[in-house]
Amino acid sequence: MGLDTGLAILLSPASSTIRQVTTGAEDRAEDRIGELIELIRYHDRRYHAEDAPEIPDANFDLLKRELLDLEAAHPELVRADSPTQTVGADPSTLFEPVEHRVPMMSLDNAFDQDELSAWADRARRRLAAEDFGDLVCELKFDGLAVSLRYEDGKLVQAATRGNGRIGEDITANILTLKTVPHRLPAGAPQVLEVRGEVYMPLVAFDALNAQQEAEGKPRYANPRNTAAGSLRQKDPSITATRGLSMWCYSVGEVQGGPGLVTHSATLEYLNELGLPVNPETTTAQSMDAAWQFIEQCESKRHDLPYEIDGAVIKVNRLDLQQELGSTSRAPRWAVAYKLPPEEKTTKLRRIQVSIGSKGKATPFAVLEPVFVGGSTVEMATLHNEDQVRAKDVRPGDTVVVRKAGDVIPEVIGPVLADRPDDLAEWDFPSICPCPHRQPLTRQEGDAAHYCRFPHCPEQLRGWIEHFAARNALDIEHLGEQRVHLFIDLGFISDVGDIYALPYDRIRELEGFGELSVSNLAAAIEASKQQTLTRLLVGLNIRHLGDTTSELLADAFGHLDRIMEAPVEDLAEVDGIGPIMAESVHDFFQSEVNREIVEKLRAAGLNFAQDTGQAEAQALPQTLDGMTIVVTGGLEGYTRDQVGAVIKAHGGKSPGSVSSKTTAVVAGENPGASKTDKAEKLGIPVLDQAQFERLIETGELP
Ligand code: IVH
Repeated sequence: MGLDTGLAILLSPASSTIRQVTTGAEDRAEDRIGELIELIRYHDRRYHAEDAPEIPDANFDLLKRELLDLEAAHPELVRADSPTQTVGADPSTLFEPVEHRVPMMSLDNAFDQDELSAWADRARRRLAAEDFGDLVCELKFDGLAVSLRYEDGKLVQAATRGNGRIGEDITANILTLKTVPHRLPAGAPQVLEVRGEVYMPLVAFDALNAQQEAEGKPRYANPRNTAAGSLRQKDPSITATRGLSMWCYSVGEVQGGPGLVTHSATLEYLNELGLPVNPETTTAQSMDAAWQFIEQCESKRHDLPYEIDGAVIKVNRLDLQQELGSTSRAPRWAVAYKLPPEEKTTKLRRIQVSIGSKGKATPFAVLEPVFVGGSTVEMATLHNEDQVRAKDVRPGDTVVVRKAGDVIPEVIGPVLADRPDDLAEWDFPSICPCPHRQPLTRQEGDAAHYCRFPHCPEQLRGWIEHFAARNALDIEHLGEQRVHLFIDLGFISDVGDIYALPYDRIRELEGFGELSVSNLAAAIEASKQQTLTRLLVGLNIRHLGDTTSELLADAFGHLDRIMEAPVEDLAEVDGIGPIMAESVHDFFQSEVNREIVEKLRAAGLNFAQDTGQAEAQALPQTLDGMTIVVTGGLEGYTRDQVGAVIKAHGGKSPGSVSSKTTAVVAGENPGASKTDKAEKLGIPVLDQAQFERLIETGELP
């Protein structure tokens, strides 16, 4: 849980800005670089290995851009393990690993014409010749990179890109794609590795969603993630039903090929072999012509029967590609131009407010349906009162809408020229939309309004779902639909009621067989043994996330001690700020919340941080009371593992050096600012061997 949840917290808008620290600019840059690397890795994994991205692509690009900019400004802080120096995410363990004989690279991005010209200038400067000649212009398909290996004309292996060096064996799944030949015609090379993008055509995506709806199941969000999920099925017969297809755009290892000298000839050759090559590909004689191709892509992007997220411009001559070479993650002879999200105008019918699981009231726009960015948009979040004011959008306005990162709909602003006279401003409602009609309040310094009524049914749904979620009490078989059903039937009016469900009545409901009821009951029973950390997460206390719940649980060891702790004691815990402490304290002051806690106690839930601590205490607590800051890489450990080892031995491992630091461990490529600061403060700096000895003996050298 640790890493993922920690990152979820880092992601919150407040912490994605540069934190205010008292150390110098270099230190801040180093910290932020570390933070960005973790964030990018996390989201890379969500996207590539788990097919479950959490943020729009455009926001991911912003993180990468910020990292690139920081590294450009501080070249001494560039870490060898930075995602700017590597490709993609490590493969998951679902499929057999496949080592790519020729690495599968990524592409550098350009977001405007200047960046595109800068790429061309850089490439020209590297070449002995004056120019790179023709360019090949291709669409940038929004799917999943795959490598196909043909030996003596037979498709013998297909693999995902993975981290560029090692991917996953998805041969059985690729064999179900109708457009991918299992055999190449006679005379095909002895070995031919073909690279391309597997995608889900829009008709297949729409058909799949129509089927989902017909079965009362949730819709898939977008074709890219659905393609990735469909391809990484353990059962290829599922992949076979998903209508996936592929466009081939380059080659990897080739033995016994026809000795082609340009990229365009390579694509023609692949086409002749019966491999799917995209017909929109053209060659351009100049950067101006390449730019025209990009402009055309932009105008016809939504007329295509598949999704693209840009164009790829490649130097055509293979000898010049060779001369330009690659960085560790991307070739210098190609660049991806990322298209900006499409914008459309529509009518803002009204602004409504939805209540989240912690009572947060979020305004959202109800729009006249508009087709934008590949799907119909009818609603878009407006975030909070200030955002509505800043955008100056009013019910009745014509507004500009786009999909941020082509996933999340966003209202950009009003078309003032079309605003009717005397159109009234929108005021944030003062009353919660739920039947209890409790006040919505906004505290000073807070951007959001809240409904503080704990029995607000709008909040309840979210709270119960949150309580049952994987990172909280992890109650399998208690999904969103069942939560809604049980609330609607009056079985649940707070989280405590989960443990008193009337199974006899549930058994009689449509869709609940004996087996599903006993599975549900078993999952609920099992959740009683979860750790205090998870219980705290489940209690849904404002400002308290997964990592901070763990800090509290570790520090106090029992829920009763947290409930009784004064604010000052809560705030004493490293990592718990005054606002969080206040919020925890307030939560347990509420009579209603205390009643819920008592229901949970009576149901037999575990209130102690037992399992984690038991494990931790099984190891000798040699670092008890010590604060160890680690900088640079340690052989045999990931960053998180080092932190976990320190913690398991009773120590703490914060990210920055202060007068409270016991020692700094400097691994490979350590951050100079941390070691300098340690030296200034007279704090010992240990190498890996000394660190390992410290863990063993508890004694500093
Ligand atoms: S060429 C060594 N061409 O975009 C060059 N990639 O953002 C490798 N992509 O990993 C890539 N359309 O998955 C290339 N026409 C195209 C592409 C394309 C989509 C994907 C590919 C790559 C990613 C980089």
